[in-house]
Amino acid sequence: MSVQHKKILIGITGGIAAYKVATLIRLLIKHGAEVKVVMTASALDFITPLTLATLAKGPVYSDFYDKKTGVWHNHVELGLWADLMLVAPLTANTLAKMAHGQSDNLLTATYLSARCPIVVSPAMDLDMYRHPSVTQNLDTLRSHGVTVLDAGTGELASGLSGQGRMREPEELFEILSDLLSNREPLAGKRVLITAGPTQEAIDPVRYISNHSSGKMGIAIALQAAMQGAEVDLVLGPTSYTPSHPRIHVTHVRSAEEMFQAAAAIHEACDIAVFSAAVADYSPVKTADQKLKKDGDSLRIELKKNTDIAQTLGMRKRPGQLHIGFALETENETTYALEKLERKRFDMVVLNSLRDEGAGFQKDTNKVTYLVAGQVPQVSDVLPKTEIAKQILEIAQKLRPQSN
Ligand code: CTP
Repeated sequence: MSVQHKKILIGITGGIAAYKVATLIRLLIKHGAEVKVVMTASALDFITPLTLATLAKGPVYSDFYDKKTGVWHNHVELGLWADLMLVAPLTANTLAKMAHGQSDNLLTATYLSARCPIVVSPAMDLDMYRHPSVTQNLDTLRSHGVTVLDAGTGELASGLSGQGRMREPEELFEILSDLLSNREPLAGKRVLITAGPTQEAIDPVRYISNHSSGKMGIAIALQAAMQGAEVDLVLGPTSYTPSHPRIHVTHVRSAEEMFQAAAAIHEACDIAVFSAAVADYSPVKTADQKLKKDGDSLRIELKKNTDIAQTLGMRKRPGQLHIGFALETENETTYALEKLERKRFDMVVLNSLRDEGAGFQKDTNKVTYLVAGQVPQVSDVLPKTEIAKQILEIAQKLRPQSN
C-alpha cells in the first residue's frame, strides 16, 4: 500500500469535520504523496487555507480567479492533474450539486472535469443524512462510479448521536492508499453481467415480471469498471442505469432478448456474472391488442424460458469464470449447491430472504459465498457496493484454479 508520488486532490466543503482533513493531509505528505486542495467558500469558515497550504506544501484554491494576483485557477487542469480526488467532508449541499452537474464553484467544476477515481466521505447531521433526497443523491453518485464512503456512526456536532460522521483521517488514509496501490486489478479483462428483472409481455400493456431492482448487478458492474475491466452489462428494465466509460449497457426487456444479448458477448468475456432475476416462464402467445376483461377468470399459457446461465454454462471455455446467484427461502445451501453444479458456476452467491437486510430493492445485502469444495463464507449485512467488492475479490482468487 503506497501513496508515494501519487497526486491527490482534496476537496473540502463546509462542515465541522473539515478540521480533520488537516491530519489526513499531514499523513499523505508524510508518505510521499503530492496534495492539492480545493475549498468551497463555506469551508473557509471552518479551517484556514493557511493551515492547509502549510501542511500540503502548496497552494490551496477556493475560487476560479485570484483577485490579488490575477491568476486564473484552471479547473480542467486540476481535474486532469489528480490520480484521485477525495471530497471530505461532503455536505448535503455539495452532494446535491455533484449529483446534478452544477458547477457554480471551483470544487464542483473540478469534479466535473476530473477523469480520475473520485471518493467522497459525507458528513451530515443524523436527519439530513437519512433524508430521501440525500439518499437518492448518494445513489446517483454511486451510479456515476463515485466511491461513496458511508458515514460513520457516533456523536454528531449537533449533539445527536447516529450515522453522519465523516470517516476518521487515519481511515481515509488507509482507504486512499488501498485504492491507489491496487487500482486496476481487472485491467484487460472483459466482464459480462446480466442484471435486473425481465418483463414477459402478455399484451401491449401488461407483462409478467418480478421485484428485482438490478442494484446488485449494477454495483458489480461499477466495481468491475473501477477495477479496470471492460464491462458488458445486459440490463433488464430498471429505474437506473450506471454511467461509466468502461460500462457498455445493452438494454433488454424479455428473457429471450437478454439471452440473445448475453450469448453474443459471452464468447469474448473472461468473467460472467449472472445476477439477473430472469422470469422463468413467458406467455406462449403475446396478444397483439390489449386483452379485454372477459369472464371471471383468465388463463394464460406459459412456456419455459431459456436458462441463460445454464445454456452459457455449457459453452464455458477453459479459463472463463461463471458466477451465479441463488435466492432461496428454504433449504438454502442444498438448493444453491445444486445450482452451482447444474449451471456449471464457479461460485454461487446465495441470498436468503430469511436474512434481515437482504433482498430485493434494498441497498444492503447479506450473502453466503459458495464455491465447490470450499467452506461457505457468510458476509455481514453490508452495502451492495461492499458485497460487489467481495464477489470480485473472491473471483480473482478463483481464476488461477479454473484455468
Ligand atoms: N438464471 C438465468 N436464466 C434463467 C433463470 C435463472 O440466467 N432463465 C440465473 C440467474 O441469473 C441466477 C441463477 O440462474 O444466477 C439462479 O436463478 P434461479 O431463478 O434461482 O434458478 P432456478 O434454477 O430457476 O431456480 P428454481 O429452481 O428455484 O426456480
